Amino acid sequence: MRKLLVTGGAGFIGSHTCAALTDAGFSVVIIDDLSNSSADSICRIKEITGVEPFFYKADIRDRETLDRIFSEHSIDAVIHFAGLKSVAESVAEPMKYYRNNVFGTMQLIDAMENAGCKKLVFSSSATVYGDMNTPPYTEDMRVGAVNPYGQTKLMIEQMLMDLCESDTEWSVAALRYFNPVGAHKSGLLGEAPFGTPSNLVPCIADTLMGKQEYLSVYGNDYETADGTAIRDYIHIMDLAEGHIAALREYNDKYTGFRAFNLGTGCGSSVLEVIREYERASGMKIPIVFKPRRQGDAAVSYADASRAENELHWKANLGLSEMCLDSWRYVSQSNV
Ligand code: NAD
Ligand code: WQD
Repeated sequence: MRKLLVTGGAGFIGSHTCAALTDAGFSVVIIDDLSNSSADSICRIKEITGVEPFFYKADIRDRETLDRIFSEHSIDAVIHFAGLKSVAESVAEPMKYYRNNVFGTMQLIDAMENAGCKKLVFSSSATVYGDMNTPPYTEDMRVGAVNPYGQTKLMIEQMLMDLCESDTEWSVAALRYFNPVGAHKSGLLGEAPFGTPSNLVPCIADTLMGKQEYLSVYGNDYETADGTAIRDYIHIMDLAEGHIAALREYNDKYTGFRAFNLGTGCGSSVLEVIREYERASGMKIPIVFKPRRQGDAAVSYADASRAENELHWKANLGLSEMCLDSWRYVSQSNV
């Protein structure tokens, strides 16, 4: 059985991917410091799959623990989710982001080299397309960052490209996620961010659960059909499957660095998401229109054809499943 190391495997995307990996027959070793997640998700992975993942509660910057993991397990490849992801926090505390995301990745790469493990799937982001491109975004477009969080993703991608240039045994797939939402069908795993959320779907959930009086809709004067901003929302389980496709269709077959967009290729407006979530929950979502949020693009969606052609992966679930599955998790677990 192939064994994978999953950094940040207790988090939102990591936990769903670990469940999908386990169901697909991989053995999973998780390292997570639980700075933005709880050990509950490890128990939930076991409840869903019947298999308990190996779990190390540790920071990826802790080289000793990384070396110990590689010596205790025969790791075939690494999926690297661990990182901080709040845009606003990255503006307020940039060094925290460079230290965690960039230095953390450097420690991981060193430990992998030391262990002779040279297959990596890295969690990148559509944020690397910055504000100078017109959607749909293709992987060959120029990249640029508009905040320190985005800058860490770009720096890591560059570092990984240089690494692959210098040593042709490395295989790195950088997956540029668009807007992951939804939850596992079981209602056992979902998105449970610490603190006040800033992403749309967690804010909708908080409003319905009475944690927010109303949902702020940032901007209704964009040049879009209903005036609200458009994003490429992707179901978390489709995203999870994208990692398995990347391992099998890229890392197992090719070396070098390659970026892949993981999105649906379709955009939905903020009001469309709200309407769909109202349908899923059977509840009315109170909204208040507010000015545009600083730094927000009007429209963002992927050209997902590279992943379809090369990884033979494509998103199958639509906005209605995303909202139904999110609501099932939120209403069942009262997060
Ligand atoms: P998350 O916060 O739910 O998961 C990240 C996990 O990493 C958490 O469990 C956290 O405790 C852990 N972690 C953070 N720093 C660590 C460290 N130094 N050592 C060990 N563990 C650490 O976030 P997520 O939404 O699951 O995102 C996973 C990855 O995907 C991140 O790298 C993020 O930047 C990237 N990404 C997320 C989105 C999104 O919208 N959710 C979009 C694009 C890219
Ligand atoms: C979506 C739309 C908001 C909340 C962010 C990061 C990006 C990536 C994914 C990691 C926007 C609007 C939101 C609310 C609203 N993360 N909105 N009311 O901004 O596309 O991307 O998460 O890599 O880097 O920037 O996602 O969910 O925050 O916003 O009207 O209460 O919903 O203005 O138009 P975004 P989001």
